[in-house]
Amino acid sequence: MSYLDATTELYKEAAITPDVGLCCTTNPIWQFPGLSIPKIMLEMNYGCGSTVSAQDLINDPKILYVGVGGGMELLQFSYFSRQPGGVTGVDVVDEMLDACRANFKIAEIENDWFKSEYVSLVKGDAFNLPVGDESMDIAAQNCLFNIFKEEDLRKAIAEMYRILKPHGRLVMSDPICEQPMSEELRNDDRLRALCLSGSIPLKQYVKMLTDAGFGTIEIRAKKSYRVLTPNHYPTDALIYIESIEIAAIKDPMPEDGPCVFTGKTAIYFGDEEYFDDQKGHVLLQNQPQAVCDKTAAMLAQASDQIHVSESTWHYNGGGCC
Ligand SMILES: C[S@@+](CC[C@H](N)C(=O)[O-])C[C@H]1O[C@@H](n2cnc3c(N)ncnc32)[C@H](O)[C@@H]1O
Repeated sequence: MSYLDATTELYKEAAITPDVGLCCTTNPIWQFPGLSIPKIMLEMNYGCGSTVSAQDLINDPKILYVGVGGGMELLQFSYFSRQPGGVTGVDVVDEMLDACRANFKIAEIENDWFKSEYVSLVKGDAFNLPVGDESMDIAAQNCLFNIFKEEDLRKAIAEMYRILKPHGRLVMSDPICEQPMSEELRNDDRLRALCLSGSIPLKQYVKMLTDAGFGTIEIRAKKSYRVLTPNHYPTDALIYIESIEIAAIKDPMPEDGPCVFTGKTAIYFGDEEYFDDQKGHVLLQNQPQAVCDKTAAMLAQASDQIHVSESTWHYNGGGCC
């Protein structure tokens, strides 16, 4: 049995018997006015963060969601896209699609604005998405891609890139890990399927996105996720895993490389009214300006009267690049 088959089996079980502890995080559950999330969806929240940000979801976007789980995020997305087929949910596990469909019926009863037809549930695979090229404004996945081994991850990202419209956004939440893991951990199919032993370092994750062509990356959140300790797992060292929320935007690739926003800010503190680097970045005196890492490095070199902050790992739009 391959690790992908083991994953399918595990989520078949999790569809039939909700597992509250699977992938759970410290994230608050977004509540919007008039939105009621059915209890069963909360019990089947198998994500490791949130991919739903109101700022991405203007003008009735067309949204593709891969790996549906209990449907909570699809319901939250459809709140912002109230149209038949506004959200398309794709999953390889029939039982998960069935559970999700049943949960939407409960959501219809609890939410007078919601109709099941707002979400199309389609059987399909992350490596071969059943939608056309450049057909979606938003593509999302939560806690699925970390399970994939490198070549499969590359394919899954390339598929998301293919189906997004120009400037469309791939929004994701996944565990990451900066430490090496033992081969035994890496090759444990069940732990991988449980989102515990597949995660890669953040830099590598970002590089896979920019290699696929995404010109802008936003790290929106980074928080504690799990520890794997020798008394519970096949590891000699304590392994610390974090979860991130990240958006990869299908902007053209800048000539000097991608813009990766990690939450750095530049402040000019000289005596002039502003600092102009003549490359498109103007900093008003003592005003914070969000900058991508590339610009942060350039500005730090350009003047000793610019303070560049550390990454906060919390970036939510705005700023130059
Ligand atoms: C960890 S759960 C996350 C569920 C949901 N995103 C959430 O946040 O609750 C992974 C989901 O991906 C689905 N899945 C597993 N392998 C898949 C694949 N190759 N393609 C599409 N979906 C897959 C599972 O059935 C499950 O619904």
